[in-house]
Amino acid sequence: MPIDIQSVLVCDAVDASCVDLLKTNGITVDYKLKLPKEILIEEAINYDAIIVRSDTKITADVLTSGASGKLKVIGRAGVGVDNIDIEAATKNNIVVLNTPGGNSLAAAELTCLLIGSLARPICPAAQSMREGRWDRKLYAGTELYGKTLAILGLGRIGREVAIRLKVWGMNVIGYDPITTDEEAEAAGITKMELDDIWPLADYITVHVPLIPSTRNLISKTTLNKCKKGVKVVNVARGGVIDEFAILEALESGQCGGAAFDVYEEEPPKSEVTKKLIQHNKVIASPHLGASTAEAQIKVAVEVSEQFIALTGKSTQFA
Ligand code: NAD
Ligand code: MLT
Repeated sequence: MPIDIQSVLVCDAVDASCVDLLKTNGITVDYKLKLPKEILIEEAINYDAIIVRSDTKITADVLTSGASGKLKVIGRAGVGVDNIDIEAATKNNIVVLNTPGGNSLAAAELTCLLIGSLARPICPAAQSMREGRWDRKLYAGTELYGKTLAILGLGRIGREVAIRLKVWGMNVIGYDPITTDEEAEAAGITKMELDDIWPLADYITVHVPLIPSTRNLISKTTLNKCKKGVKVVNVARGGVIDEFAILEALESGQCGGAAFDVYEEEPPKSEVTKKLIQHNKVIASPHLGASTAEAQIKVAVEVSEQFIALTGKSTQFA
């Protein structure tokens, strides 16, 4: 049954193509960034739908208030819906939709770049040049060729990472409870059980949602099962890797380097996360996985097209 969407509130910075497409299709759009929670609760009543990225939290009180007015749909311009209270949305008959594939390539490419930067200390070398030094001996690295990459989570992003790093000559192994052996093989990945993976991996990258079974997937216990000097990357969600355990492992040398794009809390506030970010064996980026021009256009257009489809009309382009 079509859903009547005439007015949309955009709360996070999404590409202009999202607003343009909605307007071309006769939908009124208001763009209000960084609304305090109390204002969002009041505003939610006035719109048929809301669009967010990950900054705005759509909590139960926003949804309950919205449902007492016109609110029927929440659109997430991105993959993870962990900033939306899905249970409260369901209770209030509010549809939640996301744009699953739009930023996969961007996140996969960032992951590969971080893995490369863990192998070759490009970031500190560039900083040393900026400071006027010429320290060739300090910044030697290792090759990715012939090393074993373990990918935990063989969905859209995990498989794109595999395809790219396979070409660089890495042995790619992985674990996923749902992806089949055949699907993994098609991306060049040998599927294994987790306990077989830990001792083989030179690099581990996680591409799973944050759910109870993936919280602290990389922990003190699992790190201790790995090769000394294993390197880890998290472009998925904070909490999948235990930040304190990594910090300890970096200090002891059990972990040889780590790259983080996502954190337990964003922006990071805890002392542990801050220490991790400042560690000289860590490369940290501020949740940039989806931040490419191309990905932002794809997710913006995808979320608008889904809204228009919900109204039962076909999309008109300008
Ligand atoms: P996806 O749903 O396509 O793949 C996730 C995979 O994880 C699935 O195949 C699922 O079976 C698997 N999985 C679930 N539980 C598991 C477990 N316990 N162990 C191993 N695998 C498990 O998702 P995706 O699009 O590939 O996204 C992966 C993650 O990346 C998500 O957390 C998403 O929010 C995040 N993400 C981050 C950025 C960023 O900006 N850093 C950008 C896009 C996506
Ligand atoms: C996502 O889940 O899509 C990413 O974390 C990127 C984003 O929030 O834009």
